[in-house]
Parts: sequence; structure tokens; C-alpha cells
Amino acid sequence: MNTLALFGGTPALTQPLTPYRSTGKEEEEAVIRTMRSGTLSGFFGSWGEEFHGGPEVRAFEKAWAHRFTCKHAITVNSNTSGLIAAMGAIGTSPGDEIIVPPFSMSATVMAPLIYGGIPVFVDLEPETFCLDPDKVRAAITPKTRAILAVNMFGHPAALHELRSLADEKGIYLIEDAAQSPLAMENGRYAGTIGHIGIFSLNYHKHIHTGEGGVCCTNDDDLAKRLCAIRNHGENVVEPMGIRDITNMVGFNFRLTELQAAIGIEQLKKIDALVDAREAIAHRLSEATHNLPGLAPPVVRAGCRHVHYVWMARYNATQTGVPRKDVIAALNAEGVPAYEGYLEPLYMLPVFQRRHAIGRDGWPFTLSDRAYAPGLCPIAERLQHNEIIAFAVCSYQLNLSEQDSVIAGFEKVFTNLNALRNR
Ligand SMILES: Cc1ncc(COP(=O)(O)O)c(C=O)c1O
Repeated sequence: MNTLALFGGTPALTQPLTPYRSTGKEEEEAVIRTMRSGTLSGFFGSWGEEFHGGPEVRAFEKAWAHRFTCKHAITVNSNTSGLIAAMGAIGTSPGDEIIVPPFSMSATVMAPLIYGGIPVFVDLEPETFCLDPDKVRAAITPKTRAILAVNMFGHPAALHELRSLADEKGIYLIEDAAQSPLAMENGRYAGTIGHIGIFSLNYHKHIHTGEGGVCCTNDDDLAKRLCAIRNHGENVVEPMGIRDITNMVGFNFRLTELQAAIGIEQLKKIDALVDAREAIAHRLSEATHNLPGLAPPVVRAGCRHVHYVWMARYNATQTGVPRKDVIAALNAEGVPAYEGYLEPLYMLPVFQRRHAIGRDGWPFTLSDRAYAPGLCPIAERLQHNEIIAFAVCSYQLNLSEQDSVIAGFEKVFTNLNALRNR
């Protein structure tokens, strides 16, 4: 029983884990009802009743603003669109610097480039995988327009500290809250502490509408600009009373009525879904925190972590077993853990070759910022040596599956000798 599956023993898990599914009968009925209404999108790209979308979109936005206690919730068709809209709304101009973390999904650091913004990578706090506020302070220059913080893997960045810093310097704090619905810092929701916070509703997330996103803000002017960028704003700046027309070049970032109808039902379930995820992650952390060389995710005091991914840190120097061997043993036990997250984003060809928009390397031609390997040593160390990830977002994990995953971790980490001696 105790022989590692890697060496011919019986695996801890004999069945694949149940895939995560947050939708059900309620969403199905909402879709049918909306289909039957005949209105699949309620938007019109010029000024009038329909500029702000149809009844489902408006009801979803109202419900979202209420649940997340923010003044304005503006739906968009993805978090990526929301990030672009946010960069536009804050007036990002060619050559402006936007401070970003090296860990995120690539969309975060691409959004500034659309307006000629220059991503400036700042290293992480090793415990939370989020921007280190001291390093952010040191990176601010007269060209800095915004800090774009990501609430990574469901843990809030140091949001209050970053917001105070942004206010002190007269710049913006934008939150990428794609992975962090209902995460909190000091009693406030992640995604509502920055000037704008953007959630994702893509199908990997805690709740989803297939694709989609929501921008939250408490600022009336930013809300107006976000709405304009979402829906061909060039047509409506006059009736909307927008005098500064910087970046009022609109897109079609509109959510459909069908997606919004699903979103309304998903929002009713969000507490139960996030609570369940938190409980699973907590159980996994409790069961693994004494295993040699393994440090489960940290939850900073005053924070709620919503665990998009359960990210542990592994110390191979302490155990003498390379991370890749531990992962091979976990996978053989049927535990779908993996090494690292993504290469730090400055390693993407767009930065390494300084080639983004157009043929001539714009906007990098406006800046002498370099993106050499070694730029963010903590992120590189986490990625290359330390992170052991378990994507809790992908699985439903009933109690018996949780037991088996825990048994898999325990089996591997109590048999490190077998891996060491092979
Ligand atoms: C941190 C982060 N930012 C941005 C995105 C992009 O979200 P979307 O697919 O809704 O555009 C994701 C999606 O996985 C994400 O995790």
C-alpha cells in the first residue's frame, strides 16, 4: 500500500477528479427565458435608451454592484477587454509607465501596450505571489501612470497600501481581480479598493458566463469612460458630457443578454461556491503543512484568500529531492499537481524582442526599459524552483476526492527517501 505508484504501488487516486461545474438548472432556465424574450443583446452603439445595454445586463450590473459593495459595475465581454478599457479610461498615453507584476495571465501586461503604455515589471512578495509594495514605491517615476496589481491565485495584493501609495503619488491603482471574487483585505472586497477592479467570468473562474468580465469603480467619471470605451464611445462623448476625449475611441466589449442572464444566476451562488473552495483549500493546507519541505499557501492577517489555484512552495534544498521528481510521484498517485505557474511575463517574445504594435517596435521605441532575464529574481525563483501548484479551480472535489488528494500528498512526502535513493 505504501509503495509509491511511481514504483508500482497502488495510486492514491484511481479515478480522475470530478471536473468543476458551477452552472445548473437555474442557468439553463435563465437562458431559455432570455432566448424566448427575443433580445439576445440589448446594446446599441449610439446615444439613447440602449446605450447601456438590455434588461439582463443592467440587472446583472446592479446585482454585482450590490454584492461587491461598489458604486458602479460595468460588464464587458472579458477581463481582457476590461483591462484595456481601464487603461483607456485612466488616460494612458504613449510612453506612460504602468507598473505590473511578472506573474499573471498575459492579458494583464498586454493591456497597457494597446495605448502605448510601457509595462514596468516589479518583483513579488514571495509569500503572496503579489506585487511587493516597497519595490513598487521604488519603481515609481514621473512617467508612472498606474499600478496594475493582480490579486494572484485569489490572494489580495497589498491593496490598501498600494492605494495609499497611488493616492500619495497622484497615480491610479487598477486591480486585476480575475482570480479573486470575494477575496478581501481589511474588510473590503478585492477589486473595489483600487480606482478600477476588473473581474473575469471566463469558464475557469469561480463563477462564469462562458466568457465575460465586470469592471468595478466608485468613481463616476471613470465609470462613464469605461461605458464609452465598451460601446463605441466616439459616438456619444457629447451627449455623455465627456469633455476630455483622450482615449474615447470605442470598442465593442459588450456582454450579451444571454451571458448576463447566466451571470445573475451565478451571482446568487457565488457565496456557496467560494466558501466551498475556501474550505477545500483550507483542508488541503491543514493536512499538508507539516510535510517536509512543503509550505501551503499563506493567508495574510486581515485577508480572505479565495484560492483560484492552491499554490504551495517547495524547498528541494531541505528535502534533497528535486521538485520534478516530487511532481512525477504526485502525478503517478493521480494528483494533478504541476511545477511552477508561467514564466515571468517579461520572458514573452513581445518583451524580449521589444516588438508589439506595428512593424517598428512601438511603443518600446518610446522607452529604454529593458526586459532581461533576472529582472524579477523572486518570481524566477518561485517559477523555476519552488512552486507546486494544484488547480483547485478545475475540480469539484467531493469529500472522498479531497481525502484521496491529501492521501496522495502524504504518501509522496512520507516516502521522499524512496525518491532520494532512486
Ligand atoms: C489574472 C488574470 N488576468 C486576466 C485574465 C484574462 O481573463 P479573460 O479570459 O476573462 O479575458 C485571466 C484569465 O485567466 C487571469 O487569470
